[in-house]
Amino acid sequence: MKVIAFAASNSKKSINKQLVTYAASLLEDAQVEVLDLNDYELPLFSVDKEEELGQPQLAQDFVAKITASDALIISFAEHNGSYAAAYKNLFDWGSRVNNKIFQDKPAVFLATSPGAGGAANVLAAAVNSAPHFKADLKASLSVPSFKQNFDSEKGYLTNKALNEQLIAAISHLQ
Ligand SMILES: Cc1cc2nc3c(=O)[nH]c(=O)nc-3n(C[C@H](O)[C@H](O)[C@H](O)COP(=O)(O)O)c2cc1C
Repeated sequence: MKVIAFAASNSKKSINKQLVTYAASLLEDAQVEVLDLNDYELPLFSVDKEEELGQPQLAQDFVAKITASDALIISFAEHNGSYAAAYKNLFDWGSRVNNKIFQDKPAVFLATSPGAGGAANVLAAAVNSAPHFKADLKASLSVPSFKQNFDSEKGYLTNKALNEQLIAAISHLQ
């Protein structure tokens, strides 16, 4: 099974990248590729830019990664209650390559933040729009208070209850 995992963030120290990397490591017999959105940096989307640039190669490459995968794990960073701009920009470009961008792939959506809210707002937005973009969403999980619940040195969820919920969520992809 080929799995594409990424944080919907372009932070070099992304806590969502830490979470999604750990989540993907829970899969058995999976060939996991963790993407970095910094490798898909594109100009700010506008219809005018689109007229000028068409479908940029990086947008096509991003969509092709999804096409070639058997499953997706995405962890969403929350900026002001919504998507981080880097993700939304890539998503907008990608949606012009294929509006059904998740292409019926089985998916687990995660989100985390340093606060008690656990980026639940952006997760809800991603979950609600999943059918429209053809994600076959199997489970979702918000991890609140990241620093209290995740060991960044060792790279795992220290909160047992959350860890069990994560294992259960990821098992739907197995
Ligand atoms: C511009 C900005 C807005 C933010 N807004 C929110 C927010 O609405 N809710 C939240 O839980 N955290 C918010 N945060 C804190 C992020 O959750 C925190 O930076 C987190 O590390 C982002 O995930 P990442 O490390 O994967 O990029 C915000 C951070 C920034 C820089």
